[in-house]
Amino acid sequence: MPGEPSVSIFGDAEALADAAAERVAERLIEAVGRRGRADLATTGGSTPAALYLRLASEPLRSRVPWQSVHIWWGDDRYVPRDHPLSNVFGVDEILLEEVHGVPLPANHVHPWPTGRAIAEDLGPEWCATTYAAEARDALPQSPAGVPIFDLVLLGVGPDGHLLSVFPGSAALSSDQLALAIPAPTHVEPHLPRVTFNPSILGATPAILVMVGGVAKAAVVARILDGPRLDPAAPDGLPAQLARRASAAWFLDAAAGSKLQPRP
Ligand code: 6PG
Repeated sequence: MPGEPSVSIFGDAEALADAAAERVAERLIEAVGRRGRADLATTGGSTPAALYLRLASEPLRSRVPWQSVHIWWGDDRYVPRDHPLSNVFGVDEILLEEVHGVPLPANHVHPWPTGRAIAEDLGPEWCATTYAAEARDALPQSPAGVPIFDLVLLGVGPDGHLLSVFPGSAALSSDQLALAIPAPTHVEPHLPRVTFNPSILGATPAILVMVGGVAKAAVVARILDGPRLDPAAPDGLPAQLARRASAAWFLDAAAGSKLQPRP
């Protein structure tokens, strides 16, 4: 049984980013203390920028043992790393910014190899398979062979997707660890994607979902208060895969405004 997540609602987007940055920092510090390194799988979209800014500012910049942190991406768009729509771009521009960024060794940054795949015309399937092998080599694995991240950070799309796993996605019935996903036509940006299988969510001990803005209020209420739907159905909500006891949902007041009151 997946159980229910904890749900925290913060006054505004600033308070949400403050709390999320604290939670990410705590989790990284805890993992480095316990096993000597921390592996974070981060997300794309617009939401994490405020979080990266806080991690790159004091006091968190000095508190987190960045030399022992590794960053991965749960999914990416099939564009080179320096493309503004790449999920790596925000990390490069804010978290790893040359002057003010955090001291993360360059070889601890693990982007999907989209740049090489595109430059050498190797294709998104190659990109996905190569990334799956890199993660399996570097990380501890569950009994089912799924890499275990110390923390998976997620956003939620307007259609209830997470990672690049859209309602009805082939990823939901695949046993491949990482997959190439055709460009979605129903949500922007209309770019092909590469994504981990959502099975990584079952293997990770800690998930943090960040959602802000009134535009997400209705979908958040369907995900957290509605019946659990088959995520593979065309009207399913893959983000319900993060409706589980190992997840913390951090919302701003607008995104949480349609939820039923919680005890
Ligand atoms: C992506 C994602 C995706 C994202 C959500 C939320 O590549 O688009 O990783 O799952 O997290 O769509 O995006 P926003 O933060 O922009 O609302």
